[in-house]
Amino acid sequence: MEKTQIQEMLDEKGFIDEKIDPQLKLVEEIKRLKKEKNAVILSHFYVDAELQDIADYVGDSLGLAQEAEKTDADMIVFVGVHFMAETAKIINPSKKVILPDLKAGCSLAESAPIEKFAEFKAKYPDHKVISYINCTADLKTLTDIVCTSSNAKKIVDSFPKDEKLIFAPDKNLGNYINSVTGREMVLWDGACMVHEQYSVEKIIDLMDEHTDAEFIAHPECEKPVLLIAKHIGSTSSLLNYVQKSEAKKFIVATESGILHQMKKACPDKIFIPAPSIDSTCGCNDCTYMKLNNLQKLYICMKHEQPEIQLSEEVIEKAKVPIQRMLEISR
Ligand code: 13P
Ligand code: SF4
Repeated sequence: MEKTQIQEMLDEKGFIDEKIDPQLKLVEEIKRLKKEKNAVILSHFYVDAELQDIADYVGDSLGLAQEAEKTDADMIVFVGVHFMAETAKIINPSKKVILPDLKAGCSLAESAPIEKFAEFKAKYPDHKVISYINCTADLKTLTDIVCTSSNAKKIVDSFPKDEKLIFAPDKNLGNYINSVTGREMVLWDGACMVHEQYSVEKIIDLMDEHTDAEFIAHPECEKPVLLIAKHIGSTSSLLNYVQKSEAKKFIVATESGILHQMKKACPDKIFIPAPSIDSTCGCNDCTYMKLNNLQKLYICMKHEQPEIQLSEEVIEKAKVPIQRMLEISR
């Protein structure tokens, strides 16, 4: 396939739409390419099970950033969403970072375009900015420190009690951190389209049906959902919790991909996805994460495209708040 044809496809579709020989053993081919190109595959807990199983590392946003920081591979293949691959590139500007589909975005990242956020920030000139890692590289350039759902409380606690803070872009995580720290951070009005869909009424009905189940939730969920949760935490925290808890059944309010690791870690326990407002919508799946598949992974590794491209200026500026977070999280 010619270079211009590849570029046109990437511009239009976000991935290289190339026919694959149906006889090809994709998993074996991906492993071969990985060796040949000295690549590392990093997958988030929310992608399909087969993409988690082929990864060198599968984890939450913090774990993935930490893995990206320490890898000595020449190429990072990010099976997740765009902001995660951008973060890996910012940490490793000299390495090639590719992802299977450029259109794997995030509703939180999209909720905070840089121009609008810059206007918002200008209204609070004496505030420091904490950005949830689920935002664009551009937004990170306007940030004092980045956080993930794993370390958000620790990052907020690292500021003096009287420091004025803006938290962006997730208002639900921001609200939750305000409630556990007693702060009054100014919140940007963004949310995750998956975690906003849970129905507290349906969850309560399900809890009545399964009185032996514990309800656990990700802090991107709305307040009424968090108020009834036995445990609130990042994906890795939820995964640790189900392993330690004596309960045998869990109702889980986060993207359904995490259930794969929960079932692997605890084959004897039962995991029920928390119900959404619309039970027919499949809202427990992040449509962006689910843009990844084995075919696209193979093709992107073969062509080393689509590749994350960022200007030197953005990398230099966005690196500072990410490095601060990584330092505090060691
Ligand atoms: P964590 O990976 O920090 O649990 O966040 C979940 C998420 O929404 C990632 O997009
Ligand atoms: Fe973004 Fe939500 Fe998808 Fe995570 S689950 S990538 S926060 S839209």
